[in-house]
Amino acid sequence: MDRRPIGVFDSGLGGLTAVRELERLLPAETIIYFGDTGRVPYGSRSRETLIKYARQDVAFLRTFDLKAIVIACGTVSSTALDVLEQENPLPVLGVVKPAAARAVEMSRSGRIGLIGTQATIRTGAYEREITALRPDAQVTALACPLFVPLVENGRFRRGDAVAELVTAEYLQAMKDAGVDTLVLGCTHYPLLSEVIGDFMGPQVALINSGEACAAQVAVQLKEMDALTDAAAGKRLYYVSDNIADFSRLADIFLGESVKSHVGLVDVTVY
Ligand code: DGL
Repeated sequence: MDRRPIGVFDSGLGGLTAVRELERLLPAETIIYFGDTGRVPYGSRSRETLIKYARQDVAFLRTFDLKAIVIACGTVSSTALDVLEQENPLPVLGVVKPAAARAVEMSRSGRIGLIGTQATIRTGAYEREITALRPDAQVTALACPLFVPLVENGRFRRGDAVAELVTAEYLQAMKDAGVDTLVLGCTHYPLLSEVIGDFMGPQVALINSGEACAAQVAVQLKEMDALTDAAAGKRLYYVSDNIADFSRLADIFLGESVKSHVGLVDVTVY
């Protein structure tokens, strides 16, 4: 039993899709979330910059006594998981492995699509995990850089002409490749699930990387006997810019209003 909180971070709001799932699976756990809203997006940054940012995000979170850190960001998970694992004496969990495993589980044909940020696609991390589990898998990978700004600006709903147009333009390649499973390899993308699902059709399984990661966190903490015995968990949110915007948009990401504490952090000092 371990009552310490779980630290979760992302470049911005996308990681809240993982928090939402963690809350559903582990309602008694206390979660401390950091969204680096002052430096979002991460997806267009170099490896060096991403490692620097990720180290600072983790150093801030570790000012709390945590039992685990969840990288609720496809970009950081695919670029810096190994570095963060080596440098930190507590479990650090990313989204890539669990999402890849779920994709392999769901796919019948082995034709798996992957969408993510430019940085994520550049690393080839998802493909490596997928083909390690299923060597004959054919992975079609595509960076979709316009999706994060669409989501961060609230333009992700069914019927949004811009979201639908951008989705159709990006994802035609996935249809042409005949994928039966599509990994939403960025934690912002599940917000676009309806639009993406409408375009791809019901025969294509969509893999929510934040959700897959949350399920893995629940399994791992249970195995480690590190779940809390508290009755209800608390939520603490921190951002590096624009608290008001965070509170407004976080309601949409979490599907409930953020009544908990939201703090502003200068993460560059860590
Ligand atoms: N949500 C993040 C991811 O999963 C990053 C989006 C961004 O900052 O570009 O990749």
